[in-house]
Amino acid sequence: MIRAAVNIAELRQRARQRLPRLVFEYLDGGAEDELSLRANRQGFDDWRLQPRLLRDVSERSQAVSWWDRELPSPMAVAPIGLAGVFWPKADIAVAQAAAAAGLPYILSTASNSSIEEVAEQAGGDLWFQLYVINRSIADGLVRRALAAGYRTLVLTIDVAVGGKRERDLFNGFTQPFRLTPRVLWDMARRPHWLTQNWRGAPQLANLVTLEAPDAESQAALVQRRMDASYDWEALQRLREMWPHRLVVKGILHADDARRAFELGCDGVVLSNHGGRQLDGAVSALDVLPQVAKLANRGLVLIDGGVRRGSDVLKARALGADGVLVGRAAQFGVASGGRAGAARALAILRDELDRTMALAGVASLERIPDDLLRRNNF
Ligand SMILES: Cc1cc2nc3c(=O)[nH]c(=O)nc-3n(C[C@H](O)[C@H](O)[C@H](O)COP(=O)(O)O)c2cc1C
Repeated sequence: MIRAAVNIAELRQRARQRLPRLVFEYLDGGAEDELSLRANRQGFDDWRLQPRLLRDVSERSQAVSWWDRELPSPMAVAPIGLAGVFWPKADIAVAQAAAAAGLPYILSTASNSSIEEVAEQAGGDLWFQLYVINRSIADGLVRRALAAGYRTLVLTIDVAVGGKRERDLFNGFTQPFRLTPRVLWDMARRPHWLTQNWRGAPQLANLVTLEAPDAESQAALVQRRMDASYDWEALQRLREMWPHRLVVKGILHADDARRAFELGCDGVVLSNHGGRQLDGAVSALDVLPQVAKLANRGLVLIDGGVRRGSDVLKARALGADGVLVGRAAQFGVASGGRAGAARALAILRDELDRTMALAGVASLERIPDDLLRRNNF
């Protein structure tokens, strides 16, 4: 039973057992030597909690405010492209799980269900993540997100080109799948996945335009034609065009965060894209303390490596407003659909609650300055 899954590591293990290897490694892997992928996890482990005891922690609250909104926990679900290969209509399943938990869900440009479908079928606090494939496609996507009721736009800026994901290259993971004998053998060993998932190649539903009617031409749009000339001026134009909350995802330098806020952006996500883009990049946790103390800053979120409730407490203690949950929620959906995604979010929430009690923290709005100690330094 997926509801009995104990931790995120178990959900990952279940996902590994259900998915063909090339699909699991697309989800699990990073770029090149996976230095950043590992550093993201290590970054959390390098901090130790120094509990303060004999404090009344009988009533605990993990509620926080992001802008003018109250959230039950400081978490949102990260945008994940091609999630439809993990579970049929995974975007909708995860968005529904997030809505039920009262958490924001960020829909990827490279989703397999469209902006409009997700808005109709999931509801909740929906944010749209924008990849600038080219400026006119981007303008069209922004207008659609606005019309469909999305009120927070997340521009991802760390994808001037695609990262070199070597597991995908070794495994022959392509979009759409190229059915070589090796790929067919890999899939044949996962009959459960095959019968549930095989409806042909999932479409990149937001890009089903005249320009890209089939999965192959949509993939070409995403993989080969990202707009590498996108710069601060372009961001300024986007700021002028989008009337609601604008968040920039992929920042890894305090000066870039400052500049984004000066331009009028409402938030930043410090992120190395889950270790999938620039390998050897610093992790979000490395730069968080500098960004958190910027004057006149907006919302500061981080992502990469969140697998435990204690990670969320550590992020808050280092000055983040909250975290994005990336692979953790996808291991959930890949192992049990909507219920699995819901289980992943519940595990993180329950672990956070327990960690707060044991660390002597009754509220995430009041964390002692000396809660964390750096290990081994
Ligand atoms: C399979 C996969 C697909 C992703 N697709 C996108 C995407 O379409 N847009 C985006 O901004 N980030 C994307 N990311 C990055 C995530 O939004 C997030 O930054 C990252 O997963 C956080 O690290 P974590 O998975 O360790 O939590 C993707 C990550 C994974 C693992």
